[in-house]
Amino acid sequence: RAEPLILGIESSCDETGVGIVRGGTLLSNTVASSMDEHVRFGGVIPEIASRAHLEAIVPALDAALKEAGVTLDELDGIAVTAGPGLAGALMVGVSAAKALAVATGKPLFAINHLVAHVAVGLLAEQVFADGLPENLGALLVSGGHTEVLRVRGIQDVQMLGSTIDDAAGEAYDKTARLLGLGYPGGPVIDRLSREGDPKAIRFPRGLTQPKYMGTADEPGPHRYDWSFSGLKAAVARCVEQFEARGEEPPVADIAASFQEAVVDVVTAKAMLACKEHGITELLLGGGVAANARLRELTARRCASAGITLHVPPISLCTDNGAMVAALASRLVMDGAEPSSLDFAPDSSLP
Ligand code: KG4
Ligand code: ZN
Repeated sequence: RAEPLILGIESSCDETGVGIVRGGTLLSNTVASSMDEHVRFGGVIPEIASRAHLEAIVPALDAALKEAGVTLDELDGIAVTAGPGLAGALMVGVSAAKALAVATGKPLFAINHLVAHVAVGLLAEQVFADGLPENLGALLVSGGHTEVLRVRGIQDVQMLGSTIDDAAGEAYDKTARLLGLGYPGGPVIDRLSREGDPKAIRFPRGLTQPKYMGTADEPGPHRYDWSFSGLKAAVARCVEQFEARGEEPPVADIAASFQEAVVDVVTAKAMLACKEHGITELLLGGGVAANARLRELTARRCASAGITLHVPPISLCTDNGAMVAALASRLVMDGAEPSSLDFAPDSSLP
């Protein structure tokens, strides 16, 4: 079909998302978050997330259909995140999607959450209708993932580099907790950093030593990989040193310096991977793509490297249903077969 009408469901973490797209056009994108219920625990509690998805899924479906002005009958397909994510949370979305597919007789598409983050970056851009750009790459930075990808086709994605420990968003969340800033940490550190000096403290950039980097001809074992556990430990040590001296830690300076270390190493390694793999167009996605400094530095470094950057609006960077629908729409346009009704969600889908 030229412009398939697809409903997408996302429930891999704490957001219950339902989005509807027609071809490359976004019609609606309803997101209900259970974040408020996790705040007092300082992290997403899977059992609470699953229960919240159960409560939110039907209202979200109704709202998305209403906003798009379409009925279930008109849909060409139903898509759902099959993984990776929290098993119980995924199960709610997958069960809802299967129920809808059985009830309506519409084809069902099991979607990889990470590839959906890539696909949504192209939504509403002409490239979506025309097919993917030839030398496309993606930089995904979220609470669960930090990866640089070579995207040859929407079903042909190669991982060039990734974090070997915490994801960048996770590092933000853990550092914010350490600084007593609450949860989720990303938005707070982003805001607070504007009042701090990013050069106040020189925090380590993980895996940048020559033994990890190697050279372009002889790459080291972690040339395009990241590690944020050393950075987190360095922030903890820094806070301890101030406290040991009986001084109040300069929280804004620490936040800004931490953020600079993350954003610097994330963008530097992504640029290197792009350069050495002939990537000339880069998509930025994932929840941390909402970060002002990450957007700014990625834009600046892409511009000086001659790379065209695609950055979706923030509402499409964080988890949502439209990204799932967008990927399925692309798959249907490419003639992909639907999934069988008996697929199981896979919390560690590669
Ligand atoms: O993609 P996402 O919504 O969920 C997954 O992890 O899949 O990303 C959530 C992550 C959290 O770790 C949150 O702290 C981080 O994205 N985040 C940010 C910002 N907004 C959200 N990190 C840095 N700066 C932000 N403005
Ligand atoms: Zn995500």
